[in-house]
Amino acid sequence: MKESPRHIAIIMDGNGRWAQKRGKQRSAGHQAGMKATRKIVEHCARLQIEALTVYAFSSENWRRPETEVNFLMELFVKAIRSELNKMHENNIRVQFIGELSRFSGILLNEIHTAEEKTANNNGMYLNIAVNYGGRAELVNAMCEIAGKVQSGEINPADITESTISAHTWLSVCPEPDLFIRTGGEQRLSNYLLWHLAYTELVFTDTLWPDFSAEELDQLILSYGARERRFGQTGEQVQASS
Ligand code: IPE
Ligand code: IPE
Ligand code: MG
Repeated sequence: MKESPRHIAIIMDGNGRWAQKRGKQRSAGHQAGMKATRKIVEHCARLQIEALTVYAFSSENWRRPETEVNFLMELFVKAIRSELNKMHENNIRVQFIGELSRFSGILLNEIHTAEEKTANNNGMYLNIAVNYGGRAELVNAMCEIAGKVQSGEINPADITESTISAHTWLSVCPEPDLFIRTGGEQRLSNYLLWHLAYTELVFTDTLWPDFSAEELDQLILSYGARERRFGQTGEQVQASS
């Protein structure tokens, strides 16, 4: 049976190069990237994907020129303001994952508004990773667990993989089935290090602003043709399907 992914995780990369190819500023690439994100979010909601997680700003992206960082922060504020009603109508639950405390009060306010407004929806989870780092997420989980050990709430002998998962920022979602990185680079850039352990990986050269619903459909189809073995042999998998 051809399976659809329940959870898709995307690294939306290539905005800067998209703009440079057209002789435009990098900011124009981010603007165009925003439009691509809108289309893909709507498409995934239509396909009834359970969760979509997108990388919008890494904990390392603060190292970019200040003007670019400032542009992105303003773009996030504007994007939440312009997209929230539509996402709410589409029954999407919006969650931001990452270390949010570093953001301005204005952005934090929009983030909280978006999360609160959509909290009772029961459609697709849209997880937007901002100031996100996979290692930081694990450090945070370890600290929370250590605190619970110290207070006697958790016995160290009872710590399992589920305990760690439950303390990550994606604890309410199934693990990603399909990972897509646009922009041609073949690396994880500190994305979802815990969650991608058995995810099917796809790297496409398409620059994010050019990524379309049609290409996503193709990648979902090719995902369905993959055999996920989780350590078993192909024969075992075929016998149990
Ligand atoms: C991804 O596109 C968007 C962010 C990191 C915010 P890039 O800005 O990294 O685009 P390239 O990789 O320079 O083309
Ligand atoms: C990863 O892309 C982060 C986002 C897409 C938000 P980068 O473009 O920042 O990754 P590196 O630095 O090339 O690895
Ligand atoms: Mg990049």
